[in-house]
Amino acid sequence: MEAVDERLGIRAIQYPVPSHANTIGYSLGGLTAVSLLILIATGIVMAQFYNPDPAFANESVRHLVRGVYLGKYLRGLHYWAAEAMYVLAILHLLRIYLTGSYKRPREGNYLIGVGMFALIIGAMFTGTVLKWDQEGYEALSHNLEIGKLLGGLGFWFRSDFSGQVPLLVRLYMAHVSLIPMLILALLVLHALLVKRHGVSPRPDNPTESGESFEPFTHHLRRIGALGLVLLSVLSVLAIVFPPGIGSTPVEGIEVTKPPWMYWWLFTLENWIGLSGILWGAGVLFALLIILPFVDRGPERHWRRRPVAMILGAAVVAFMVVLTILEAVTPAAQHLMGG
Ligand code: HEM
Repeated sequence: MEAVDERLGIRAIQYPVPSHANTIGYSLGGLTAVSLLILIATGIVMAQFYNPDPAFANESVRHLVRGVYLGKYLRGLHYWAAEAMYVLAILHLLRIYLTGSYKRPREGNYLIGVGMFALIIGAMFTGTVLKWDQEGYEALSHNLEIGKLLGGLGFWFRSDFSGQVPLLVRLYMAHVSLIPMLILALLVLHALLVKRHGVSPRPDNPTESGESFEPFTHHLRRIGALGLVLLSVLSVLAIVFPPGIGSTPVEGIEVTKPPWMYWWLFTLENWIGLSGILWGAGVLFALLIILPFVDRGPERHWRRRPVAMILGAAVVAFMVVLTILEAVTPAAQHLMGG
């Protein structure tokens, strides 16, 4: 052990962690990371069977589900782990907001988190397109239109940007390589900064007086145990509610609804047209980015931050209402002039 430690310095990960880091609220980031691990493991296996050529993509997913041993389970697990990562990242973000953990000195790490959140949305979007059925295709059509709205900035999303490589292949590259690499790089920085600053103290005990400290490896063990519970739940969901796949897309029709996490944006699109998606996402991320620069007071307890609590609740309520509105509205045609 000494010999290994002398060369690799692995004992450094046994740094002391306060006991409150083991509560569920402070384990949400760790569980988001567990979801990411499940996504990478299942994704590597699925990549052996998926063919990103638009002529074969849909059929290769069908073959994965029908003809590959455990293929249906692995696809289901990948799908549900993606949903879990999205929900857990949002819950983690809400915990950071409620406990004021974005405040000094953690502003930089908070912004790294915002970057990872944007990448998670990118991973969700590119993943939806890959199965190349009507839903995936319509997601892409929206994207092509948004690319046009962005003018020169949207060049990467245009089919004519690269004459030799179909857009689906480029989105596949982003999904399996570019986005996961960026998430992992940011995650390393995120974890290093959590180590440097320490997990933020509980707002009701800022000096951590009377709290016990344990080595980080104990915290990892606890995340591992919670991670196994998460894996079991996701496995049950994968088996009981496997994700479907529609037939090869038909061009020129618009009949599906996007995955639920985009519904709030689609209500905005119903109201003000395609630019509503850009405005909605743009304003949300602008608010997330300016937060630590605007709210700089030292107070971290939610009871003594009424303005932050009211504004935060208003943003969440607005998004929930927009989501519900899309849920009760039939699929709308946006791009075909309907
Ligand atoms: C892939 C996504 C993410 C992963 C895997 C992740 C992981 C983690 C982990 C393991 C921690 C340690 C404490 C905890 O678990 O609560 C943490 C802390 C933190 N995260 Fe994240 N995170 C992610 C996304 C985000 C997002 C979206 C934000 C905010 C916009 C964020 C902001 C922070 C901050 C400020 C801390 C320090 C908080 C504290 O010390 O209390 N993270 N993250």
